[in-house]
Amino acid sequence: MTDTKLIAILPGDGIGPEVTQEARRVLDALDLPLHFEEAAVGGAAYRASGHPLPPATLDLARRADAILFGAVGDPACDSLDRQLRPEQAILGLRKHLATFANLRPAKIFPGLEDASTLKPEVAGAIDLVIVRELNGDVYFGEKGRRTTAAGLREGHDLMRYDEDEVRRIAHIGFQTAAKRRGKLCSVDKANVLETSQLWRDVVIEVAADYPQIELTHMYVDNAAMQLVRDPGAFDTIVTGNLFGDILSDQASMCVGSIGMLPSASLDADGKGLYEPIHGSAPDIAGQGKANPCAAILSAAMLLRHSLAMPEAADRIEHAVATALRSGARTADMGGAMSTTAMGEAVLAAL
Ligand code: IPM
Ligand code: MG
Repeated sequence: MTDTKLIAILPGDGIGPEVTQEARRVLDALDLPLHFEEAAVGGAAYRASGHPLPPATLDLARRADAILFGAVGDPACDSLDRQLRPEQAILGLRKHLATFANLRPAKIFPGLEDASTLKPEVAGAIDLVIVRELNGDVYFGEKGRRTTAAGLREGHDLMRYDEDEVRRIAHIGFQTAAKRRGKLCSVDKANVLETSQLWRDVVIEVAADYPQIELTHMYVDNAAMQLVRDPGAFDTIVTGNLFGDILSDQASMCVGSIGMLPSASLDADGKGLYEPIHGSAPDIAGQGKANPCAAILSAAMLLRHSLAMPEAADRIEHAVATALRSGARTADMGGAMSTTAMGEAVLAAL
């Protein structure tokens, strides 16, 4: 028996296949005991088999030791019933696999300060991680449409969390901060939302287990402002599903390009799904323009968090930094390299 690990490759839509291929090439080059199996997901799966998350894809995701995910989303599918839209694939995977803890690190790579829309000295100080809850909130609450008594169309989405859901993500937040600079900022909207007041109450209770961590609370509107005013002041942010979705896109622009940010979505045992946070970018799909770094860095997170291979993860991260230092840039970073050329620059630096 060898301890070969099974990696599910789910490339998905848009630029997903292009960037995932570069991540796969980097993993191959490391010569690790990995076995890959690929399956369709999102709009690509809908077209092939009528469902964005076919049973065979879910089965592979369940069997795998870790999942490398590209992106889902396809404007051609926007008029489909909600349950058949590509986005349902990633939401379904997160729910079925109970990957409730989403880690979205945002750190500026030396040399990329100029790619940020922030002043270089402000951007240069960014080194934070957003811990986003992924299985609850308004994303998964009851939703629907109706016609009011006055004949108006009405839509609703229920925002809800129970205390156990808040507690388990709060623990991940504190544990993440403990491995970093020891500062945790919990982001909510407790001045208006009852869900957020419960969130804040529970985070304060959990804090009793982590006396060494400095805990602060911030309303989400203020957090959005502080993220562009003084992002270097943040270490670890813990927040709900919706606020985390928005703030992580914002953080990505602060570090210069959304094409640089990887993410890990972990279950209670550390099994994970790894994906760039950038999405399918249909406007540049198929043109070889996409930045593969977020996907490559997602592969590094996979090795670190799910396979306990920190040296290999370090090698990938160093290679990306080296490639950037040598001037390798795709269009999103102000360069002209193609997706494969950028992948090759990272491979060369390995
Ligand atoms: C993300 C994406 C997804 C989300 C979409 C594709 C459903 O924006 O991973 O941030 O909203 O969670
Ligand atoms: Mg998002």
